[in-house]
Amino acid sequence: MYDEELRREKQTVMTGDGSRTLYSVEFGETYHSDKDGALHESLQKHVLSAFRLKHREKRLTILDICFGLGYNTLATLYYVKKEQLSTQIHIISPEFDRGLVESLSSFVYPEEFATLKPIIDALSRECYYEDKQFKIEILIGDARKIIPQIKERFDIVYQDPFSPAHNPLLWTKEYFAHIREVMKEDAVLTTYSIAADVRMGLHENGFHLFMLSGEKIRSWMLASPQMWESLDFINMELKKKRNPDAKSLRDIMFKGYK
Ligand SMILES: C[S@@+](CC[C@H](N)C(=O)[O-])C[C@H]1O[C@@H](n2cnc3c(N)ncnc32)[C@H](O)[C@@H]1O
Repeated sequence: MYDEELRREKQTVMTGDGSRTLYSVEFGETYHSDKDGALHESLQKHVLSAFRLKHREKRLTILDICFGLGYNTLATLYYVKKEQLSTQIHIISPEFDRGLVESLSSFVYPEEFATLKPIIDALSRECYYEDKQFKIEILIGDARKIIPQIKERFDIVYQDPFSPAHNPLLWTKEYFAHIREVMKEDAVLTTYSIAADVRMGLHENGFHLFMLSGEKIRSWMLASPQMWESLDFINMELKKKRNPDAKSLRDIMFKGYK
């Protein structure tokens, strides 16, 4: 599945909100939805969805899977600064494409990230940034190997790999078991995928699932070990009765993939 030879081959794509993303030849997919827009998608589906439930916390530890162009991390910083939140933020983000991270200092980001340029440069150069409020670590390597070794326990997980069809090992039941282990009991996971096999993988690991939606953007999902009464709960027992053939993705299906 993974092909390091092809990893360097990418093309810039303009998305629906005027922010740029890339197309990956290795995965045959863009890094963001070109219709929803890279910045819009990142803010709506990940940052605002999570902060709506977590904005009162004094400290937040966030797992951003995977760093890519860093939109989710940068949109988090943009949002926290814009809202003048005093929350201490620690972001850990696995990413196996070192060349991509090194290239980010010259990537053309939207105007909203202009003041974040020194942070982008530090991350691109050192995979690390720290000031009084923010600490960001990009961990270079395979997320499947890195995540089980992380000692931190997370409040928020941005589950944003390429799609299950193109990067299934980051959506299996076994993968979600590792994610569950590094999440706190009241943590939230945000993801753009609402596919039946993804829901099953999360449900089988004890997650409660919730549907989220917005204007001019495709619906997305939030998952949490705990119940959130304010959200639109997805009744998976009922879904299973209606669709008994729905199955989670399993590592064994992709045996031999590296
Ligand atoms: C859809 S992009 C992430 C977009 C990113 N969240 C953003 O906002 O820009 C998926 C990223 O996952 C990385 N990736 C794919 N499989 C990986 C793995 N097993 N371990 C670490 N990184 C991986 C790719 O190199 C790519 O940068």
